[in-house]
Amino acid sequence: MSENVFQRCINPDCAASYGVEETLFSCPACGDLIDVRYDWERLEVPKSLNWFEKRWATRNNKIDFSGVWRFRDLLPFCEEKYCATVGEGQTLLQKNDQVGQYAGCRPEKLYLQYEGMNPSGSFKDNGMAGAFSHAQMVGAKHVICASTGNTSASMALFAHILKLQCSVFIGSGRIAYGKLSQALDFGAKTIQIMGDFDDCMRQVKLIAGERKLYLMNSLNPFRLEGQKTIMFRVLEGLKWQVPDWIIVPGGNLGNSSAFGKAFAELKQLGLIDHIPRLAVINATGANTLFDLYENKGLRFNNGKVDDAAIDAYYQKLNDTGYKPHTLATAIEISRPVNLKKCLRALEICDGVVREVSDADILDAKAVVGRFGLGCEPASAASVAGLKLLREQDVIGPDETVVCILTGHQLKDPNITVKYHIEKQGPHSNCPVEVKNDMADIIEALHV
Ligand code: F0G
Repeated sequence: MSENVFQRCINPDCAASYGVEETLFSCPACGDLIDVRYDWERLEVPKSLNWFEKRWATRNNKIDFSGVWRFRDLLPFCEEKYCATVGEGQTLLQKNDQVGQYAGCRPEKLYLQYEGMNPSGSFKDNGMAGAFSHAQMVGAKHVICASTGNTSASMALFAHILKLQCSVFIGSGRIAYGKLSQALDFGAKTIQIMGDFDDCMRQVKLIAGERKLYLMNSLNPFRLEGQKTIMFRVLEGLKWQVPDWIIVPGGNLGNSSAFGKAFAELKQLGLIDHIPRLAVINATGANTLFDLYENKGLRFNNGKVDDAAIDAYYQKLNDTGYKPHTLATAIEISRPVNLKKCLRALEICDGVVREVSDADILDAKAVVGRFGLGCEPASAASVAGLKLLREQDVIGPDETVVCILTGHQLKDPNITVKYHIEKQGPHSNCPVEVKNDMADIIEALHV
């Protein structure tokens, strides 16, 4: 199999290739990001997407049960014996007219892809299924990541089940307790660094290289292979029809990068006839992608990205001592590691980027909670972004839209309770405090 699968640098001026059994988190020749590549001509791929439905009947085979591995023909980088799974990807695509109405869409037009149903409660389990399979393939013993919380929870869960050593770096005070509790319960060695996510990311890259530890952040190209399957399941939920728009929150930009790659490959394989548009939504307090793409006009430009513009941007962040800040702590990132791959996805999908305020995120989150599937703050950026794009008429009222809800509501209950108790927005549902007295209770009930 392996000569049909390889790793390749995304920089067209370098384009160095490496074997699939190598463990790389950047190109050894030029330092750029690495892709997993397939020689599709020489691989056997189903002729139509509904072929995958036959695997529904063989769910007692755990890799057919997995919402990642039942699409393994579209990420064929390892033998089946290496496929790691914790039962990820049993997710739901829910049509939601009430949330759609809030965002300004006509009935039947909005779908929510609920990744909170994953075993660790976020979309990360899709990516970990990919990366842990590669880790097993190369015989890794110790896995490591920096995280705003969900990556660490998911990595710790997989490591715990597959019996690998596991260490996580988190920024001090910037992790929701639901996530921290998972990493601790699953037995991860948890290092709380006095700094933010960007500091943790810089350290983990250095230390993984220095100590030859297996890095599980989305710099790892096998993570993104697993995350492609979110889009396969969206298409499956739409009976293999392509929606007009996919909307996703943007943090380290792994998801958006994976989605662009998924659609480019499906198109190349003739499995879809067109590619949906992509909207990536930043929080205003962590808006590097928005600023670079929408304000400064940075583009993928067929791989010839203006590196000097990115370097100057980051230099300015350093010089001014800028620190990102948002209540959506999952996406509180100002140096997204997958920036260039995300730019590529935006090129593939004719994409747009928007920023939304914390207040808009919290309102959208409350609406998602009220009418459908609860989600954590970062996830609701997708719905807040849709509302903005409808107001701007970038998205039409009759277009079919899929918002990705990346993480479960219970990841961050403090934010939710605070929104309701402190009446922070129009959707606040404040509890009523009464004396322990029947008459008072009945009065409060208004019945
Ligand atoms: N939504 C949630 C719930 C997340 O946890 C993250 C990222 C994102 C969105 C952003 O996704 O990085 O693919 O753009 N969380 C990472 C973590 C950074 O460490 O858990 P992205």
